[in-house]
Amino acid sequence: MRLVIATIVAAAATLATAKKPHCFPYGTATLPKDLSKPNVQLKDWWCPKSMAYGFQGFSYPMAYYDCAAPQNGFEYMRDDFARMKRDFGASIVRMYYPVCMNESVFENAIRAGVATDMAVIFQVWTNFGVGNDWQQSQQAIYNVLSSDTFGPLAPYVVHSADFGSEPVGDWMDGGGDQLVADLGKFRAVMNAHGIPAGISEDWDRPGRMSGENGTGLGPVGAGVRANSDYVHAHIMPYYLSSNPTVAQAWPYISDQIAWLARNVRLPTMITESQWAWAPHPWHSGASDVGVAQYTHYWKKFDDECHFFKRYKVGWFIHTWLGEATFDMVYGNGSYVIPNWRPRKC
Ligand SMILES: *[C@@H]1O[C@H](CO)[C@@H](O)[C@H](O)[C@H]1NC(C)=O
Ligand SMILES: *[C@@H]1O[C@H](CO)[C@@H](O)[C@H](O)[C@H]1NC(C)=O
Ligand SMILES: *[C@@H]1O[C@H](CO)[C@@H](O)[C@H](O)[C@H]1NC(C)=O
Repeated sequence: MRLVIATIVAAAATLATAKKPHCFPYGTATLPKDLSKPNVQLKDWWCPKSMAYGFQGFSYPMAYYDCAAPQNGFEYMRDDFARMKRDFGASIVRMYYPVCMNESVFENAIRAGVATDMAVIFQVWTNFGVGNDWQQSQQAIYNVLSSDTFGPLAPYVVHSADFGSEPVGDWMDGGGDQLVADLGKFRAVMNAHGIPAGISEDWDRPGRMSGENGTGLGPVGAGVRANSDYVHAHIMPYYLSSNPTVAQAWPYISDQIAWLARNVRLPTMITESQWAWAPHPWHSGASDVGVAQYTHYWKKFDDECHFFKRYKVGWFIHTWLGEATFDMVYGNGSYVIPNWRPRKC
């Protein structure tokens, strides 16, 4: 009996594997563990856009200014990335606010991605728009991409690179024409290395990202669109002034996705969306919060899997650990939503 079951399980596993294409990061392709680049052309490496929908992974807060902190180190990231993959089926890690502005943090993320076969999204640190720290963060990324050790490998691990998280909302680099021009320069460098580029931003900013009345693109949004390979959208009903209940969140999210599909028409992922499992002074937003609401919020995303598949939109949980009551991981390491592998379709 045991042998029969084992044979059936093995056969089922073979079938499941056979159906998965040999590509990264949703398929069977794996990275060489010696930091050499895969023996395949870049265009044949990444999975097709048709597979890029539904749950992708987590935003990964990196709020340690000391680059030597364990949290900015290889082993720490490797262990977290492995848990995201093993326990939730994640494929991509979104570096979020990497405040260490040295090459090491990006190099360690690549190494952790290699060790766990996870893709990584690079992000320039905005420092909330204050000063020119973004230039140092950007330079660190440039240096990694031109280094002998990481340069050839990076385009096989780095899924995409964002010129800041909410650089428009935080008025980084002026927040207008200059920002758009510098995004164009950043994109040119990323594209020369084979890496797509854009920004991570909320498009529901009437008069800037969207038109005055929410119709069409605003002046900054038009410039961002022209200088981006994709949309990494922040769709955040939690912060609407109407103070929605969690049950009222989805209509806004689906409207925004339809708006992006109509007005921006670029490959799209939701990189930030959130709900709180308890009140917290960092998160003044919707008041309908709790573990039940948090669970409802995220399970609704997965329940809408066919919607995401139709629009070819991926989404990330915000966040892993580091944003208080938005986190999926409690301080003791257990999960707010245990035993859950999103990706129903
Ligand atoms: C960044 O790296 C340099 C050496 O490359 C080192 O001197 C410096 O202390 C590092 N900065 C931080 C914040 O760790
Ligand atoms: C909204 O704004 C757009 C462009 O600014 C304009 O063409 C359109 O007529 C406006 N629509 C309404 C309903 O005000
Ligand atoms: C972990 O912490 C959370 C929140 O404080 C608590 O609800 C949960 O029971 C804890 N789990 C374990 C295994 O200690």
